[in-house]
Amino acid sequence: MLFNGGPMIFTGRAHSQLAEDICEYLECDLGNAEFSKFNNDNTFVRIMDNVRHRDVFIIQPTSYPVNDNIMEMLIFIDAARRASAGRITAVMPYFSYARTDKKDQPRVPITGRLIADLVATAGADRVILMDLHAAQVQGFFSTVVDELTALPMLADYFLNKDIPEEDLVVVAPDIGSSRRSRVFASRLEAPLAIIEKRRLGNNDRVETLNVIGNVENKYALLFDDEINTGSTMIAAANILADHGSKGVYACATHAVLPGDAAQKLTAVSNLNELVITDTMPLEERKKHPKVKVVSIAPLVGEAIKRIHEGRSVGALFR
Ligand code: R5P
Repeated sequence: MLFNGGPMIFTGRAHSQLAEDICEYLECDLGNAEFSKFNNDNTFVRIMDNVRHRDVFIIQPTSYPVNDNIMEMLIFIDAARRASAGRITAVMPYFSYARTDKKDQPRVPITGRLIADLVATAGADRVILMDLHAAQVQGFFSTVVDELTALPMLADYFLNKDIPEEDLVVVAPDIGSSRRSRVFASRLEAPLAIIEKRRLGNNDRVETLNVIGNVENKYALLFDDEINTGSTMIAAANILADHGSKGVYACATHAVLPGDAAQKLTAVSNLNELVITDTMPLEERKKHPKVKVVSIAPLVGEAIKRIHEGRSVGALFR
C-alpha cells in the first residue's frame, strides 16, 4: 500500500499522554485536531492537518467517560474519512463493552458487537486492540484486527524481580482466565493454580470458592486481563492467605479502578504490588507506592510502525 509519507498519529481526548508517548517512540509529532462541544452537548472534531492519502492512526482507549470517548472516536474517524485519509486505524488499547459479548440472559444486548459495527461504519479500515476479555471479540469487527498483548512485558517485569522459581506460583483468579494464566506461567517457568470464583448477579460482587493447586509458602502472582472494582483480586488475595500463600502480586493489563477501588485493593495486607499498564489514563486515584506501571507505548508504537511498513505484528510476541 502506498501512502503519502509516514504514519500520522492523532489522539482523541481519552488518553493524550499515551499518544504522546507513542509519538516519542516513533520519533514523530502528534497530529493536530480541535475538539469542542456545542451547548446542545454535541461533540465536534476538526482535524487541523492534511491527511489526504495518509496512513492515519487514531489513539483512543474507550475509558471513562466511556460513551463520550466512543462517540469522539467515531466522529474522529468520520472526519478522517471525509478528509480522504488513505487508511484509518482505530487504536483502542482498552475496548470497553468487551465483556458484554453474549446473550446469556433473555432480552440483553451484545454491546461489544454494536460498538465494533459502529467503528466499521464510521470508516475505520483496521483496529488495534489489546488483551481482550475474550479473544473471539475480535470476530465482532468486520475490519482487520490486530490484538496486541501486554503479557510478555508484564512477565518480563516479574522475571526482572528475581523471585526464586520455587517460591512462585501463577494464579488464575477465575477459571475464565486460566488459559491466559497458563501462558504467563510458562513464560515464568512457574506452576499454575486456579481459583474457583462465582459472580453474584449482574453486579460486581464475587465469591471465591476454592483454590485448585498448591500455593502454600509461595508468592502468588495473580494475572488477569482487567481489574475493575478490584473485588476479584481482593477475594483472591484473601483465599490465598487462607491457603498459606506468603504474599500476593496482582497484575493486569487494564486497570479501571473507579472511585476508591485502588485504595481498597492496595490496603489488602498480603498484597505486595499491583502491576498494571497504561492502556487507560493513570488518574491520581490509581497512584500508590504499591502500584507499579509498565507502559504499553513502545509496544503500540512498534505495532504501528510494522503495520505501516507491512511487516509482521505477530513476530513481536514470539
Ligand atoms: C472478568 O471476569 C475479568 O477477567 C476480570 O476478572 C474482571 O473484570 C474483574 O472485575 P472486578 O475487579 O470488578 O472484580
